[in-house]
Amino acid sequence: MTTNDEKTKLIAGLDDNALDHDYDGIIELDNALPPWWLYMFYGTIIFAIFYTINFFGMGAYKQQDELKEQYAIAQKSIEKYQKEHGSSVDENSVVLVAEAEKLADGKIIYEKNCVACHAANGGGGVGPNFTDDYWIHGNSINDVFKTIKYGVPEKGMIPWESQLNPNQIQNVASFILTEFKNKNVEGGKEPQGDKIE
Ligand code: HEC
Repeated sequence: MTTNDEKTKLIAGLDDNALDHDYDGIIELDNALPPWWLYMFYGTIIFAIFYTINFFGMGAYKQQDELKEQYAIAQKSIEKYQKEHGSSVDENSVVLVAEAEKLADGKIIYEKNCVACHAANGGGGVGPNFTDDYWIHGNSINDVFKTIKYGVPEKGMIPWESQLNPNQIQNVASFILTEFKNKNVEGGKEPQGDKIE
């Protein structure tokens, strides 16, 4: 009598490399692994050893560093955005800027958008005179910023909010308050508003 095990091996003709166990007629063959697969497998083991040492032991890579790097990149792009859009400046936080390049920027904006009504020398025309001591809407940097931003549409002063970004409004407001202050240009428009020393 042959055992079940032996029968299965015989049927399969595999008695050479069949392993010595049998589960309900299912047998396991001890075939040689394909070399390409085997060496790749050894390779992954060797790689894992070096990788683990390098990663955890020598600290060649740290998530904390990568986070810092990414953070710095994000911070740069926020600064760039704010520089371009000036999103952080409003009528409460606006300051009178004194840097030459910002005033020069304000001058360019003024010449492009404002001279038609306020004159190149600030003496006024359709709009009020900036070179006298009289102001309709106040002459603090906050007041002037607000007037430029929201305008006085019913009186013909355009709201510039949609055309100039907050930084540009800050620059042109600072330019007006710096460049035209107490100049009292000849031929300027008659005073309007209240006298503010
Ligand atoms: C279409 C004509 C026109 C243009 C263009 C114009 N303004 Fe005016 N602006 C006016 C008028 C009119 C007033 C007066 C509003 C009032 O009577 O309340 C005024 C008022 C102002 C005031 C307030 C003056 C005060 O006495 O309180 C400021 C500041 C001002 N303009 C800045 C600007 C700036 C900056 C620009 C360009 C970005 C500009 N304006 C462009 C017509 C203009």
